[in-house]
Amino acid sequence: MSGVKRILFITGTDTGAGKTVVTALLAQWLRGRGVAVGAFKPLCSGGRDDARILRDAVGGGLSLDGINPWHFRAAIAPALAARREGKTVRLAEVREHIVSAAKGFEVTLVEGAGGLMSPLGADFDSRDLLLALRAAPVIVAPNKLGVVNQVRLTLAALPAGVRARSRVVLVAPAKAEAATGSNAGLLAEYFPAGNIFKLPWLGRGFSVEGALKKAVVEKMIKGLAEA
Ligand SMILES: Nc1ncnc2c1ncn2[C@@H]1O[C@H](COP(=O)(O)OP(=O)(O)O)[C@@H](O)[C@H]1O
Ligand SMILES: [Mg+2]
Repeated sequence: MSGVKRILFITGTDTGAGKTVVTALLAQWLRGRGVAVGAFKPLCSGGRDDARILRDAVGGGLSLDGINPWHFRAAIAPALAARREGKTVRLAEVREHIVSAAKGFEVTLVEGAGGLMSPLGADFDSRDLLLALRAAPVIVAPNKLGVVNQVRLTLAALPAGVRARSRVVLVAPAKAEAATGSNAGLLAEYFPAGNIFKLPWLGRGFSVEGALKKAVVEKMIKGLAEA
């Protein structure tokens, strides 16, 4: 750890990609190393399970409302779910919440919703928030056929300087496909291999703490946190 305060923004190629799992693993690992870590899921729609998982991973110190100040009932994009409730969430207020909360932490993790360009609020998507926070992107993607295209599109949507600071996490599916073993190598023809990480399938009903006891997972999360 450099000791420099930093913000990692965990985004992905899609919903259900593994963003919350990666964020929770990072939070729990950093906490275990004695690093003051905060984790935020500023906007939730259709339930606050992600925020609860992050609260457990940071181990107290942050309330559910601190982790997730904005939540809406409908299980659709937060921007639309808010509109249905007659509510408006603006980039400036979300940015302000994170920036102010981040002052108390060495590392701040922010989970978006959906993918990089999924609408989050009235005037912003995950990319806007990521850029407003000057955060380093962590792009989480299912390690299946088609992922090289999805990751390249996501990277292409970022300014070059931010792209260079990005890390990619390929999350293994429950059942490996022919492409699962070769995607990282193919992606490395377009993006630095050192910034590509592979998270194995952890099984159903895994625990974050238990997962970090596996050497391969611990090594991967350590590399991601220190990249
Ligand atoms: N490596 C993994 N091993 C086992 N289950 C996983 C893994 N990654 C994700 N999952 C499961 O897949 C589902 C979607 O993951 P999640 O982190 O919630 O995605 P996202 O936050 O991108 O929507 C969750 O039920 C989660 O527990
Ligand atoms: Mg999530």
